[in-house]
Amino acid sequence: MKIIGSAIIFTVCLRLAASIRCYECNSSNNSMCLDPTIYDQETVKNFLRSTDCEQGVFSARHKEFFCRKIIQTILHKNHDSEVRVTRGCGWVRHHRDCYKADNEDHLETVCQCFSDHCNRGAVLAGRLTGPLLATISVLVSKF
Ligand SMILES: *[C@@H]1O[C@H](CO)[C@@H](O)[C@H](O)[C@H]1NC(C)=O
Ligand SMILES: *[C@@H]1O[C@H](CO)[C@@H](O)[C@H](O)[C@H]1NC(C)=O
Repeated sequence: MKIIGSAIIFTVCLRLAASIRCYECNSSNNSMCLDPTIYDQETVKNFLRSTDCEQGVFSARHKEFFCRKIIQTILHKNHDSEVRVTRGCGWVRHHRDCYKADNEDHLETVCQCFSDHCNRGAVLAGRLTGPLLATISVLVSKF
């Protein structure tokens, strides 16, 4: 019985690990994508698309999905810079959970995270400070 129980738990965990849901949006056609945290849950549920990464176009070739949030600041010479946010599934991990990639005409911050709908945070939420991260790690490790 014990073995069967473990096997079931193992299978369930495996399934959970293999399938992650992420918000998918692009602020260029959905302004909610800029900062979903200012809307109530019901509104977010109705207007922010939730994607099962496994069902995506790339699911055949990629297995280890996670959620991503990409903040691009597009620099314009003669007028204000523009912020564009895209959220969705990712599969090429970076060794840091948030990193910057600065190009000539735009600045980019990419954040990755590993639980369902974790990419819903505000633009600045990627900048978790050390103590907060430590607290979260402690909380998570208790499970
Ligand atoms: C977001 O939309 C803009 C305009 O339609 C497009 O140029 C850009 O490639 C899109 N970004 C993503 C990640 O789909
Ligand atoms: C935004 O564009 C993407 C593809 O470019 C589309 O899949 C999505 O449904 C659009 N979202 C809205 C709110 O129109």
